Amino acid sequence: MIEILLLPGDGVGPEVVEQAMIVLDAVKSKYSLEYTISEGMIGGQAIDATGKPLPQETLKKVQASDVIILGSVGGPKWDALPSDIRPEKGLLELRKGSDLFANLRPVKCWPQLLEQSPFKNHVVEGVDILIVRELIGGAYFGKKGTSHEGESTAAFDTIEYNDMQIRRIIKKAMDIAGTRRNRITSVDKANVLETSRLWRKIAEEEALNYPKITLNHLYVDNCAMQLCLNPAQFDIIVTENMFGDILSDQASVLGASLGMLPSASIGEGIALYEPIHGSAPDIAGQNKANPLAAILSVAMMLDISFNHRQAAEDVEKAVENVLIAGLRTADIWTKGLGLVGTREMGKAIAEQIK
Ligand code: IPM
Ligand code: MG
Repeated sequence: MIEILLLPGDGVGPEVVEQAMIVLDAVKSKYSLEYTISEGMIGGQAIDATGKPLPQETLKKVQASDVIILGSVGGPKWDALPSDIRPEKGLLELRKGSDLFANLRPVKCWPQLLEQSPFKNHVVEGVDILIVRELIGGAYFGKKGTSHEGESTAAFDTIEYNDMQIRRIIKKAMDIAGTRRNRITSVDKANVLETSRLWRKIAEEEALNYPKITLNHLYVDNCAMQLCLNPAQFDIIVTENMFGDILSDQASVLGASLGMLPSASIGEGIALYEPIHGSAPDIAGQNKANPLAAILSVAMMLDISFNHRQAAEDVEKAVENVLIAGLRTADIWTKGLGLVGTREMGKAIAEQIK
């Protein structure tokens, strides 16, 4: 029995998670899946209720679960809070506390959405990239601080990595590469950063254990450019935490919208699935958000945590069929197509599956 914990969070999070659950329910009936669902608080919602972005009650639930499905955290309401009680801090603590070191962010170009892409069709056609982002190291978790002297203020963040942290994410990427097209691009800034030089050295060392896999290296600035010029060259991109954060938002445009991008965060135990988009407070509660990223995150969960490739493919296929049928939420809409809301999109996918 798989124990699922829902952490809908803030902004559009609850709306998209709700639709993801309707879709999961449709899959459940079809394949007689066995799981339980409980719910907890995280982010701004949790700060309002308890004063903490990741309250003790939620941590207890996390410990009792196998899988977390998260919506999104944050919003202008909590922007002025000090950094240790910001909504984002809840997500970061959850990632760190659950040792979720590998963040998998697939970016693919949906043929049905070519028209919505700001890129020329021939550039994005066939794009199928997996960004493997290290998730619990680097500047996000290094020493940081702010100090004041007279009138002036200074602040610092540090990027720190050790060999073990680098090795395990590189290995993870190499293992996954064997199930894809056997190509890895390791992204760093080894011309400037010490951590990147260590990263590159470890990547080279690990590559010796994976003779079938072709490894190449790119500086992060060059990678950002290549993602626009010739994104189809990439199979797997493996990189450190902050580079991965930035490159995955950039790469999302290749798939037409941030609203289409799912993600999985995995370690040795519990796994967390979440859309990569944020809480989008400007459209929250208006039935406008695109639930497909959350729904595709459920597909990743079915594949990785339920080990049920067939069910995962069903969800992906349903998304494809609904796009072919012309249904679009506002972020992926163009003239002549059917504009639908969050709920209508979720319902259409669930019906496809049934
Ligand atoms: C992401 C988000 C988070 C991150 C924020 C919300 C802390 O941007 O998952 O990409 O920076 O990791
Ligand atoms: Mg991000």
